[in-house]
Amino acid sequence: MKKVQVTFEMQVFDDLNELIEADKKLMERAVSARANAYAPYSNFKVGAAILLDNGEVVIGNNQENASYPSGLCAERVAIFHAGANYPGIPIRSIAITAASQLHEVATPAAPCGNCRQAIAEYEQRQEFPITLLLMGETGEVLKCKSLADILPIAFNSSYL
Ligand code: THU
Repeated sequence: MKKVQVTFEMQVFDDLNELIEADKKLMERAVSARANAYAPYSNFKVGAAILLDNGEVVIGNNQENASYPSGLCAERVAIFHAGANYPGIPIRSIAITAASQLHEVATPAAPCGNCRQAIAEYEQRQEFPITLLLMGETGEVLKCKSLADILPIAFNSSYL
């Protein structure tokens, strides 16, 4: 038996204004995308903005459904849009922000497991890390260098 420790490093910014200009702009696109989320059941709105290698930005927001599991998270709406409309163009970074209509979200958004898995596949395919920028409605912003950092021991196509 051996013990293996898995660690990762991320940057923690006090708020949006501490980010470099390009990251701030991307997060601002995520914030505006968040406004158009369709979240009448959870009242929890999420926005995602993806920066592609060609400079284009693709956005997404959560789309809920009266049949709850039929809805989809913001991150997957955005990344599937990127995959469908910009095939083969690498993804540089994803900014994600969450806000509730019931209380202030002052802690950084944490992508759900399904979204981590979905983004991981894009990262593996392009063989280039996808930077993550995570923010609530206010407060700290986390910057992670790679999706793989927040999904260790990931399932992927090599198992099939
Ligand atoms: N949601 C996202 O859009 N992204 C996540 O990573 C976590 C959760 C959405 C799904 C649902 O519409 C609402 O937030 C509450 O779970």
